[in-house]
Amino acid sequence: MDPSIDTLTDGPAERPLHRLRDFVDTLDALIARTDDEAILLTEGGRALAGLIAHDDWLPDSYAKPDPERYRQYLLHRGSAGGYSVVSFVWGPGQNTPVHDHTVWGLVGVLRGAEIAERYAVGPGRLDPLGSERLEAGAVVAVSPRVGDVHRVRNAFQDRVSISIHVYGADISAVPRHIFDESGRPKEFISGYADAPALSF
Ligand SMILES: [Fe+2]
Repeated sequence: MDPSIDTLTDGPAERPLHRLRDFVDTLDALIARTDDEAILLTEGGRALAGLIAHDDWLPDSYAKPDPERYRQYLLHRGSAGGYSVVSFVWGPGQNTPVHDHTVWGLVGVLRGAEIAERYAVGPGRLDPLGSERLEAGAVVAVSPRVGDVHRVRNAFQDRVSISIHVYGADISAVPRHIFDESGRPKEFISGYADAPALSF
């Protein structure tokens, strides 16, 4: 590991990026040890909860909202594209369409709050399964096994919310789906917004 990433001057204060590096080290060790999704979600979720327990490390360049739509900044791509860590930045009132992931994922709220609505895709329809408000510090899991279809929005109309997402693949290389009200899928691949390189 490059010691120069212990702190990164990007904004008014130096950022303790060792928190992100420790998290990535934990994920690397976990993924090397098992491919059991239940263990990955439980232990990865615990590590993510530790990362988002402190909101002092995310560089400002990875926390910038866009006035038009939510943004996704790549923080780290695991070796051989085996996982990705993404900063997901919501402007006031912004939301995703109903979508799936097709791989396991973890969502941890770093700043603000989000509303997540889960769905089951039925023939010709979407069935709501319930919604929950996720406050800063909350971690939830998604996957085809535990429930993969949801819509997420910023709980606030007047401020930015940010969550840190981990996916069991480089999510920018995964074909997945958005769904209209009748449950009709449309393939999409999400991309990353530009940000200065954050090297580990
Ligand atoms: Fe999602």
